Amino acid sequence: QKGAYPYYMLKEIDEQPGVMRNLVQHYVAEDGSINIDKELLDALEAADRLYIVAAGTSYHAGLVGKELFEKLANIPTEVHVASEFAYNPPLLSERPFFIFLTQSGETADSRQVLTQVNAQGYPSLTITNVQNSTLDREATYTLLLYAGPEIAVASTKAYTAQIALEAILVKAYGEAKNIDKVKEFDVAAELTKVANGMQELVDEKGTVEKIAKDMLATTRNAFYIGRGIDYDVAQEAALKLKEVSYIQTEGFASGELKHGTIALIEEGTPVVAVITDPKTATHTRSNAQEVLARGANVLFIASRDVAQEGDQVVLPEVTPLLSPLLAIIPAQLLAYYASIQRGYDVDKPRNLAKSVTVE
Ligand code: F6R
Repeated sequence: QKGAYPYYMLKEIDEQPGVMRNLVQHYVAEDGSINIDKELLDALEAADRLYIVAAGTSYHAGLVGKELFEKLANIPTEVHVASEFAYNPPLLSERPFFIFLTQSGETADSRQVLTQVNAQGYPSLTITNVQNSTLDREATYTLLLYAGPEIAVASTKAYTAQIALEAILVKAYGEAKNIDKVKEFDVAAELTKVANGMQELVDEKGTVEKIAKDMLATTRNAFYIGRGIDYDVAQEAALKLKEVSYIQTEGFASGELKHGTIALIEEGTPVVAVITDPKTATHTRSNAQEVLARGANVLFIASRDVAQEGDQVVLPEVTPLLSPLLAIIPAQLLAYYASIQRGYDVDKPRNLAKSVTVE
């Protein structure tokens, strides 16, 4: 039921703080230990490389998962688009472990890969929102997102739930392996901080509504730019905007713009710069200057610790690897309002289905 909400997408955006808290409740015990099957953790520990396989928004959640697994837990991790992996698989490591990210648990491209993985006898984990879905049943292990039904075609809360659950899984894995960096990572406290930050952002949605009106009302195209983990967010943010507003939007590694795509920047072209990583903040800002100088209309979404005067959206501070959980909120809202302002049915964008059951 969407209740007082005009659309499910807005309701689901608003639910995200609660989704974070739910995950903490389900997976983190009072004493901070993680409730994840030992068998699953043993299988993960036995792996020499992780392969995350997913499509669309779930693929983008996988990109952030790679950062978490590699930076916190030192395990090499590859992320693959399911439809590519299925017919052009990479050379696998000796002891691979597969993680399927899928809100619906029914995506045909991901199922195709899982069938191959099972045929080869490799262990797998499905992270899904739908218990008893095909990918739940066919994988060796399952972790549920407990995000509640996601009705809007454009995925919002499943994306943040997937990232949060990846963080919880990294915590469990790293504790089992005795990794110092993971010991310092208090996942419950961090996700609680994220939930509070999300709440601040959804409470301020009026600001984003106005930005959408000023910036996106008539444009034909738009860009998101960022580096590293902010580039991961840029890709998801771009998908969100294009799928519900039909504005042609690309997410770019900000340093890559000048290698060709900057030719598309004209007077008034909207460019959203996502800046949360202190290591690359200066660089992304200088890329933003390059497009500003060519007439672009730049929106800065920046974390408080790297924000500058004039940045239109400032994100509450959280641990850098979890910053996508906050940075994506204004981007989801921008997409939502751009779609509404253009008069579209936000929950049912044209040509799209909630779960894609054909390859
Ligand atoms: C975009 C969107 C899709 C899905 C993709 C995978 O908003 O919803 O890109 O993320 O079709 O679906 P699942 O996660 O159900 O496998």
